[in-house]
Amino acid sequence: MADQLRANPGPQQMFLASRTDEVLFGGAAGGGKSFALLLWAAFPISIPGYRGLLLRRTYRELELSLIDESRQIYPRLRGAGAAYNEQRKTWTFRSGAQIVFGHCDNERDVHRYQSAQFARIGVDQVESFTRYQYTYLLSRLRNVASIPNQIRATANPGGIGAAWVKRRWIDVLSPNAVKWFLGEEQVERGTPHAMSRQFIPARVYDNPKLLEVDPGYISRLMALPDRERAQLLDGRWDIGHAGLVYDEYDATVHVVEQFDPPKEWQRFRAVDFGYNNAFVCQWWARSPDDELYLYREIYETQQLVSALGPRIRDLSAGETIRWTVADHDAENRAELNKHGVRTIPARKAVEDGIQEVRKRLHRDAVRGKPRLYVMRDCVVRRDQRLLSASLPSSTIEEFELYARETVTEGRSVKEVPIKEHDHGMDAMRYLCMGLRPGPRTRMRDAEGV
Ligand SMILES: Nc1ncnc2c1ncn2[C@@H]1O[C@H](COP(=O)(O)OP(=O)(O)OP(=O)(O)O)[C@@H](O)[C@H]1O
Ligand SMILES: [Mg+2]
Repeated sequence: MADQLRANPGPQQMFLASRTDEVLFGGAAGGGKSFALLLWAAFPISIPGYRGLLLRRTYRELELSLIDESRQIYPRLRGAGAAYNEQRKTWTFRSGAQIVFGHCDNERDVHRYQSAQFARIGVDQVESFTRYQYTYLLSRLRNVASIPNQIRATANPGGIGAAWVKRRWIDVLSPNAVKWFLGEEQVERGTPHAMSRQFIPARVYDNPKLLEVDPGYISRLMALPDRERAQLLDGRWDIGHAGLVYDEYDATVHVVEQFDPPKEWQRFRAVDFGYNNAFVCQWWARSPDDELYLYREIYETQQLVSALGPRIRDLSAGETIRWTVADHDAENRAELNKHGVRTIPARKAVEDGIQEVRKRLHRDAVRGKPRLYVMRDCVVRRDQRLLSASLPSSTIEEFELYARETVTEGRSVKEVPIKEHDHGMDAMRYLCMGLRPGPRTRMRDAEGV
């Protein structure tokens, strides 16, 4: 390796030297995470059969960060003969070894790598991925060139994966220590099939190169609002919330693969308005034993209701929708009505609605199953703006973010839902309230708009 390419002493060096199966390198912004990932992926390039995979969630981020930075680094690897193929987003080295770049906007995009074999997989900013995507990738590691399989992830605190990333690494590992796991269970070292896991904190102060070329970097981090500053400058993982609103949500139970709901099932829609925040329209089907399935949704920003109305109508063609419940905004409801999307106003009592959803998320004692499911990737179009901002781009992604915060009012302390990552959550709540037996929402409200 050329001598200009050298790991920074400290965490970056430790990251590159680690022989642990699964490592998270994370914390502060600018700590040299992406650089480290690129170097790590390149260690085995003299081995002809080696293939490495490096990922970001979106194409744009991939281009701007990893690919751009790889052009600075790989041509400088002495004797490696690095050549980049733009179309295939692949570096090929003299030995025949390859490093491939990829992105996974949709959850199922990880299936592209189903039959591929990678000895090393690196996931940059893993907090922008879902837990499903990450664990799927983990299963794609294959030892093909007698290179020990390794997976590496980098992260900043926050993002749509904040909850699962924290649980997988931060909550169960002290900094730099290595522990062994079988699935989620911690086991003794040496247990057959156990994988070792490690969390190496990254700090911006450990990256002298950045501070040298951009001395203003730290001042800019310092100027951020409190929460972002704590996360991105101090690398704090404990900031944010007092617990999830739907802590019974479990992606392995409540998320199902897509299927066409049988014709005879009842169908409903639920709408939460938004422009800079996401506009959400959900389509739900109800089985004869009262199981709800979210089978389609629009989850998009910066769309006018005048354009959304016809889309909702067209997407619903051939389906009988019993009713559509919506947030109260009169103007927007009137606009939907113009396109044949009649709505009834939602019953909006927040805690009541949350209780209705929770009842359905619980496995009921008799059947051992919940009564609420979401179909994977049922969002009709991924909003690139949301993806790039590491914000949820579907209802599924909100479940692990929608949280409560502790609020003190005089002498009483309450835990109230934070009004963030709640657009799909609100629509779902309106739907469940609409289905609750009791005082019916007046249908004439629907006619009256
Ligand atoms: N060991 C090193 N030698 C030289 N330059 C480095 C080294 N490590 C990092 N850098 C440079 O420091 C800058 C920040 O590094 P990098 O982009 O890897 O940080 P990051 O932690 O991924 O940041 P972000 O949180 O913004 O994604 C980059 O310009 C990178 O090239
Ligand atoms: Mg980076």
